[in-house]
Amino acid sequence: MKQPSIFLLIFFAILSQSCQQKPDYQGVLDVKKSAIADKAMVVSAHPAATKVGLDVLKKGGNAIDAAIAVQFALAVTYPVAGNIGGGGFMVIRSNDGTTYALDYREKAPAASKETMYQDSTGQIIDGLSRLGHLAAGVPGSVAGMFAAHDKLGKLDMKELIQPSIDLAAYGFSLTEQQAKGLNRAKERFETYNTQPTVFVKDTEWNTGDLLVQEDLAHTLSLIRDQGKAGFYEGETADKIVAEMERGNGIISKEDLKNYEASWRTPVSSEYRGLKVIGMPPPSSGGIALNQLLQMVEPYPLSEYGFQSQNTVHLMVEAERRVYADRATYLGDSDFFDVPMAALTDASYLKNRMADFNPNKTTPSSEVVAGDVNSYRESDQTTHFSVVDAEGNAVSVTTTINGGYGNYVVVGGAGFLLNNEMDDFSSKPGEPNMFGLIGAEANKIEPGKRMLSSMTPTILEKDGKLYMVVGTPGGSTIITSVFQTILNVVDFGMSMTEAVAAPRFHHQWLPEVVAAEPNAMDATIRKALEDMGHIFTERSSIGRVDAILVLPDGKLEGGADPRGDDHAEGY
Ligand code: DON
Repeated sequence: MKQPSIFLLIFFAILSQSCQQKPDYQGVLDVKKSAIADKAMVVSAHPAATKVGLDVLKKGGNAIDAAIAVQFALAVTYPVAGNIGGGGFMVIRSNDGTTYALDYREKAPAASKETMYQDSTGQIIDGLSRLGHLAAGVPGSVAGMFAAHDKLGKLDMKELIQPSIDLAAYGFSLTEQQAKGLNRAKERFETYNTQPTVFVKDTEWNTGDLLVQEDLAHTLSLIRDQGKAGFYEGETADKIVAEMERGNGIISKEDLKNYEASWRTPVSSEYRGLKVIGMPPPSSGGIALNQLLQMVEPYPLSEYGFQSQNTVHLMVEAERRVYADRATYLGDSDFFDVPMAALTDASYLKNRMADFNPNKTTPSSEVVAGDVNSYRESDQTTHFSVVDAEGNAVSVTTTINGGYGNYVVVGGAGFLLNNEMDDFSSKPGEPNMFGLIGAEANKIEPGKRMLSSMTPTILEKDGKLYMVVGTPGGSTIITSVFQTILNVVDFGMSMTEAVAAPRFHHQWLPEVVAAEPNAMDATIRKALEDMGHIFTERSSIGRVDAILVLPDGKLEGGADPRGDDHAEGY
């Protein structure tokens, strides 16, 4: 084949450079935890990403355009979880009330096997599904952004990617949390990378240091210029496969070329007259949240009060039952027949709570998954929320799973790969990194998507947009979204208070309630222990970024104080 001339290559290099310009958001930016705006709002894990999204809205882009720009911006400014090497879910409600659920979750490579993380005696090989090349699923984020744009985008895709190319090429300043995070991860980056990466330098990272990512800027410009093929084919695909070969990974060119995002039907439910719109499988989030809300609805939570003994006991007991169902029945519905209707049926859920004892815990050993057969009928992550001036809303949770994913930066392409394969059940009953167990429904199969807890959610009140909410946090995602909704609906908090309020979490197994240090009063905790609850302390649970429509139609953005999360509107 004839090679392009060197002059042509230089011409294209200059052309693509010439599109770049120094970004507005290079420096350390102030973070705003709460914002009120008349028209539009973006809340995300990084101030520069929030501002990129807001610029798109001010230019006339809609909420979908802004969400796409934020996803790419987080891939640059929030490497711990923002990504093009991972996947996610997008729940959309347009201003006419139409809802959409976009699944761009990673898939198991074609060469994957059910027992690929076990040794010859059937023992799990520690770390294999979490660290290094074999932990990566086929990335879905870039396909997801193009699918969203094809269906609902308004501005040119190039305009949505360019701000991220600029941030990668010129650099952005690290926050204190980011500098510390990169320093902590240094050893792992050194262990799992086959080539030098920009995330490792000889000296420590400090707050305000400029992180310049030239390889990533180049990869993003290929996506800008070639569309989806700029990632899944050609140069970037070659680099991913070469990286796999250097580190015994199994993602192939066919896996990449075949990847497609999927539009799914959102899970809808009612809670105290509000419509709750959530993500269906391969996320467990929509179904589990639906179950939790229906299970607690008969009880007078606002009378019980926030973090009171009755409230915490009721929520934990509902959580125990829901996570037992999750472990048995939830997985990718393209591969496993998830009994969605049964799991969210009112009489099924009433039955699940029939043995709820208001005075004492039901030990998890006595809680098994519900009997769906008795039902007779006819199944380190980051979140951002966007509302535009026309009232379109987008709720996105996206992830490479653990912080910095599998720690592998694709050589020459500058982005981190996910370790999402750990979200499969590597062996029945064997806990994954979040302590979650699973079996048949979530076993590894080629081309299958691993079960997720990500719960991007939108709520509607009287037929109008009411709330956009979601969070990272692995298995705690579902319960953090659950608590945030109750905080507003039952305990009358503002959005800002609701995202900041201390949280707790229970997931059936292990049999403990993980609670933030200030989650509840010492006397209440003692009373709960007397009822049989076992507490462990967790320094921080979730980072909820949410938007609430206020009675006067204004928007309140609440950004979680646990991170650098930033709310801004206009
Ligand atoms: O999809 C899931 O449920 C997980 N991969 C999410 C991981 C996560 O939230 C880690 N961040 N804190």
